[in-house]
Amino acid sequence: MRTARLRVRRGSAGDPAVHYDEFAVPFDDGATVLDGLIWLRTHRDPSLTIRYSCINANVCKECTIAIDGSVAYACMTPLSAERVMTLDPLPGKPHLRDLVSETRPPREKLE
Ligand code: FES
Repeated sequence: MRTARLRVRRGSAGDPAVHYDEFAVPFDDGATVLDGLIWLRTHRDPSLTIRYSCINANVCKECTIAIDGSVAYACMTPLSAERVMTLDPLPGKPHLRDLVSETRPPREKLE
């Protein structure tokens, strides 16, 4: 068992208190950033807001976030014990809360 350190952007859209929380996450080889986020929500902070669906198939693309400044699938990115990994919502999309951005096409939004 190793330990990853995840620096996670927190806060809601328009909230001036947007900040980063850093968490230590135990993991075994093969675990992904999404596994770490699910573990955090289960064991440390149930208010952490993330989005995912297929878990590890690169099918739904709902787990897409910025990882160390690059857009990536959280379910396909391995956790690392070598460095702090900084997680942000998708750039260029309206921010909703924590790691979730508005990704629906404008015509699909309900009024
Ligand atoms: S959870 Fe579906 S692509 Fe990552």
